Amino acid sequence: MSVSYNPQERVFRLDTPNTTYLIAIVDEEGFLGHAYYGKRIPDDNMQYTMRIFEGNVVPSVNNRDRVAFYDSLPTEYSTFGLGDFRESCLQVLDENGNRGVGLVYQDHRIIPGKPSLEPLPATYGETDECETLEITAYDPVLKLKVKLYYTAFTQIDAITRSALIVNENDQPITLTRAFSACLDLDNRNYDVITLHGAWSNERQINRRPAVPGRQGISSLRGVSSAQENPFIALAEHTATQKSGQVYAMNFVYSGNFMANVEMSEQGLTRMTMGIHPNGFAWNLAPNDSFQTPEVVLVYSSCGLNGMTHTFHDLYRGHLCRGPYRDQRRPSVINNWEGTYFDFNEEKILRIAEEAAKTGIEMFVLDDGWFGVRNDDNSGLGDWYVNTKKLPNGVKGLAEKINALGMRFGLWFEPEMVSPDSDLYRAHPDYAFQLPDRPHSLARNQLVLDLTRKEVRDCVYQQMYEVLSTANIEYVKWDMNRPLTNVGSYAATRENSGEIYHRYVLGVYDLQSRMLRDFPNLLLENCSSGGNRFDPGMLYYSPQIWTSDNTDAIDRLRIQEGTALVYPLSTMGAHVAACPSHMNGRTTPFATRGHVALVGCYGYELDLTKLTDEEKAMIPKQLEDYRNVGDIFRTGDYYRLASFAENGKYDVMMSVSKDQSKAAIVFVQVLTNLRGRSILMQLEGLDENRKYRCNLDGSVRTGAAWMYGGLLLPKLAGDFLSALITLEAVEE
Ligand code: GLA
Repeated sequence: MSVSYNPQERVFRLDTPNTTYLIAIVDEEGFLGHAYYGKRIPDDNMQYTMRIFEGNVVPSVNNRDRVAFYDSLPTEYSTFGLGDFRESCLQVLDENGNRGVGLVYQDHRIIPGKPSLEPLPATYGETDECETLEITAYDPVLKLKVKLYYTAFTQIDAITRSALIVNENDQPITLTRAFSACLDLDNRNYDVITLHGAWSNERQINRRPAVPGRQGISSLRGVSSAQENPFIALAEHTATQKSGQVYAMNFVYSGNFMANVEMSEQGLTRMTMGIHPNGFAWNLAPNDSFQTPEVVLVYSSCGLNGMTHTFHDLYRGHLCRGPYRDQRRPSVINNWEGTYFDFNEEKILRIAEEAAKTGIEMFVLDDGWFGVRNDDNSGLGDWYVNTKKLPNGVKGLAEKINALGMRFGLWFEPEMVSPDSDLYRAHPDYAFQLPDRPHSLARNQLVLDLTRKEVRDCVYQQMYEVLSTANIEYVKWDMNRPLTNVGSYAATRENSGEIYHRYVLGVYDLQSRMLRDFPNLLLENCSSGGNRFDPGMLYYSPQIWTSDNTDAIDRLRIQEGTALVYPLSTMGAHVAACPSHMNGRTTPFATRGHVALVGCYGYELDLTKLTDEEKAMIPKQLEDYRNVGDIFRTGDYYRLASFAENGKYDVMMSVSKDQSKAAIVFVQVLTNLRGRSILMQLEGLDENRKYRCNLDGSVRTGAAWMYGGLLLPKLAGDFLSALITLEAVEE
């Protein structure tokens, strides 16, 4: 049993294999206090941790200091206006212009399994895999109900949270803030960890001390963003990869968000996460409800590795969906960096023929196949084939690629419109815009108003036409500019605060429709590289393009940051041409292969321009992807050394779940002047089993490899790499 209620103690408990979460009903009024979250404990009577009785603070005893009570209670869902001055989860504006909210316990239910949050993405689980607690809290003045959902997974140390807000009043009410989760922790010298970045430099790990006051991250770009990923963690100052306590939150959402950490005067640290309140105002008519997106909570008592393993297991098995969820993804050749917009059927087929000879499994035709699209100034929105480039249509090209023994995939950017397009000329109002202001163009394009059903229908109709007439087995869904000038022709003063969220719901609706109509499609999300690498997208696509930066060395940091939270099985990673189009760096073909091998593998270059020697390496690389790649896709990932931290070399490892195989990618970024090989202690092996190493065939116990270490090969030069494997042997 993962969820229970102890009526004597008035405590709810949620247990996962190694963690416990306790919620207490406090005082006669029934406030919802947060009593405990951490390593698994058997006790329920943990209310003392809230310290509320120390100063006789509870209102039934000391009503003259009610404010002090509100402002010091570790709470489950903080509300604005009555005395909790810390970050609030819920703020409203009622019909009389009042903003205060106060919630008390009303009742609860324990639900087997996990209710779906559709139309929002969310983690899922069967009745034997998780259990859900629904606590109904109520504001009797506003007649506002808040149902707090907590799901505890039975095999994974994750707890998910969301809130459903129901207006039971006969008056409308506006939600001006509706966060998904709040976690009040005692102060323990925490560091805040976030994934900060930029275009082509996504998800760089940033760790700094939590300081008194507020610090946080957010996005107002309409997408979750490359700048700040919707992930935040509090790690004990002394926590390392292998040890120490870590509390993390990750938002299953793909739009504007906010995550804050606040250290209060009371010595509490509050972590909150939800939809960004700027530009948000949601109207609830009588009996209407608003469902917040889900937050995934992870606690690890064994450092960052523990946190990472939990996220990876949860997302691989309980977030990603579809026939490819547990499958190796086909190796691809994508023509973007090979040709950009400058291609025709003949050129594409020449590349495809080379690819077919090497054994690459799928050809993905990127931007430029539709409308009038010879550069990025026109054509978006016109999703019909450009017959000048492809005289036999997408269908004809797909058939020829299939005849070469390869599968075929296609790029779309469905959320966009170019001012120079037939769609825009016919329906200028389909684009977001603020009347009387010039468009704020980005990449010379505008964002379609996907809050409107007729706009979604128009885009989808066109996509359906293409997808249903040609043998397309993969779609790369791109999104290449942030939302600005967010004005909708359908909006009124009353509902304009709903646009950002309704836009995200519109994107989810389109992706759901596509997957419903084409259930065998492999969808890869993408947004100017990795702008939308978030758990919301993973519900629709089991993989996401990690970054437009395909330089193998820059990718080390990007992939390390990405893999801190997201499974390797979700990271699109390709071998690109050199010198790198991104930064001019030249790296060996083998190194590019090793760095890409850990993700969803492919090539992104003009194969006809490779040297014979390089081309000859591809079949072996593909064989590695088929064999070793599976260890990265399904195993437990360990960060052994970080180039981002040491500035010299990078070592990452994955161990198969049955501990029979392990794979290690070592990249020597800068040559080791002292000429000594690095002794690297491995992780995750079975101490007692023996493993043979591919480097020299030596056999040692897991204990020896982990505590004695493995001598990494000496490599003479910069940017060199090695792929090392270990296999359990019976000896
Ligand atoms: C974005 C993507 C790239 C490519 C281009 C096409 O930048 O991230 O991979 O598809 O768009 O315009």
